[in-house]
Amino acid sequence: EVWNPSGKYRVVSTKSMPGTRWIRLLADNDCRLEICTETKTILSVDDILALIGDRCDVQLTEEWGEVLFSALKRAGGTAFSNMAVGYNNVDVEAANRNGIAVGNTPGVLTETTAELAASLSLAAARRIVEADQFMRAGLYDGWLPHLFVGNLLKGQTVGVIGAGRIGSAYARMMFLKANGEQPVTWKRAATMEDVLREADVISLHPVLDKTTYHLINPERLAIMKKEAVLVNASRGPVIDEVALVEHLKANPMFRVGLDVFEDEPYMKPGLADMKNAVVVPHIASASKWTREGMATLAALNVLGKIKGYPVWGNPNL
Ligand code: DGY
Repeated sequence: EVWNPSGKYRVVSTKSMPGTRWIRLLADNDCRLEICTETKTILSVDDILALIGDRCDVQLTEEWGEVLFSALKRAGGTAFSNMAVGYNNVDVEAANRNGIAVGNTPGVLTETTAELAASLSLAAARRIVEADQFMRAGLYDGWLPHLFVGNLLKGQTVGVIGAGRIGSAYARMMFLKANGEQPVTWKRAATMEDVLREADVISLHPVLDKTTYHLINPERLAIMKKEAVLVNASRGPVIDEVALVEHLKANPMFRVGLDVFEDEPYMKPGLADMKNAVVVPHIASASKWTREGMATLAALNVLGKIKGYPVWGNPNL
């Protein structure tokens, strides 16, 4: 799909993004916008090389390293924007080596992502998905005192690992939710081990890098409360997912809410069978307002570079 075919700058979007503001922003500002209409979810390196072609000024989204950044440079490219706040899929050093400016889309997804983490916390604590499946299977035959008894969040301790924008928003939401005589405590000053040991609900919001890979490992799972709720809406590899499956099997009262997985789009064997896991397909930022905002920011990032302004969301800053 091509917008403003005679535009001076060639901008390629590897995906169709929500809304129309981002399209207008580029097409009304000297850009020829090409939107890839390929229906497969993940494009291969060859697919992207074909999209870059001989001349491409800027590119939006996908998994990017040396091969693609050097191809973008050869094609005269100057900018790249990830339609996400996390940019673990982007080798920023390779981009810098090739003189390509990199942008991301912070801010607009903070509340949406925190809301999903809060939803997963409640859904896991109150066994909502399990109960929904039970209902749909026609198994409900009357109220029972033991039916789907879960954890009451009021008065519990909530731990946040990674108190950046999203982690802080989550903490605020959970404080409001659980505010009672014993308000939830956001363990800001504690060590990670203290948080894991003491919290009833733990939400993970770190950036994924070498230091946070498998941050939740068998040893750390072992110190958590047997009835804790663990939520991850950051990046899958922050949890050792094989160890998590074993932990879920051994501790049926331990519950997880996961938006992200180690080998996305796949789950590690056994996870899908665990009743004490709520799993959703990386939808933390999936509200209409946020996704349109992310698309607009991604367009602003590349437009900024073209027009000589700093890239708006710049992970180097
Ligand atoms: C992000 O922005 O990093 C999300 O994972 C994509 O929604």
